[in-house]
Amino acid sequence: MLLVATSAASDAAPRYDEHGDLVVPTDYREWVYLSTGLDMAYVEGAAADHSMFDNVFVEPAAWRSFKETGHWPDGTMLALEVRGATGQGSINRRGKFQSGAPMGVEFHVRDERRFAGGWAFFAGSETGVAKHVPEAAECYSCHRAHGAVDTTFVQFYPTARPIAEKAGSYRAD
Ligand code: HEC
Repeated sequence: MLLVATSAASDAAPRYDEHGDLVVPTDYREWVYLSTGLDMAYVEGAAADHSMFDNVFVEPAAWRSFKETGHWPDGTMLALEVRGATGQGSINRRGKFQSGAPMGVEFHVRDERRFAGGWAFFAGSETGVAKHVPEAAECYSCHRAHGAVDTTFVQFYPTARPIAEKAGSYRAD
């Protein structure tokens, strides 16, 4: 029998354009779902005047490795997609659902050879390129200081958290 190798694994690696920005993986919605946050806020203060969900996904090969080790392997890509939360529509009378196009999509990428700290952030939209966020941005300091596993917020991802706790990679905040 003839076996044909597929190139699925190579599709999963991060790709960059000539400016060092991330080519947005257009299939991120088919990655592994980690969690959804609703109106999460990290500083005290007035609530925002609009409500938002953020959906977190991770590239499947990285997830398979995470399940074995409790760490994110080199080449990991995580996506955070922001969508508006609305209560008005169809038969809905209470609660909120997600509607409309994403308000933004951000990526967190582990690429040890490329980035001094091992990881980098990219901010963009659903398609095209996501812009590299400079190291000095507070994205990096907050994720480093508070992320439970490898600068990611596994404490908020209910299927990932027990894996990391069992593997001993979980750092309590
Ligand atoms: C003050 C803390 C803080 C700052 C600053 C921050 N984040 Fe996050 N980030 C979080 C938290 C908390 C989550 C978990 C969200 C959830 O549970 O839905 C998160 C999750 C993410 C994720 C999902 C993958 C992961 O690492 O867990 C991405 C991607 C992300 N943030 C990108 C960014 C980018 C880009 C910036 C800067 C423009 C940024 N963040 C700034 C706290 C922060």
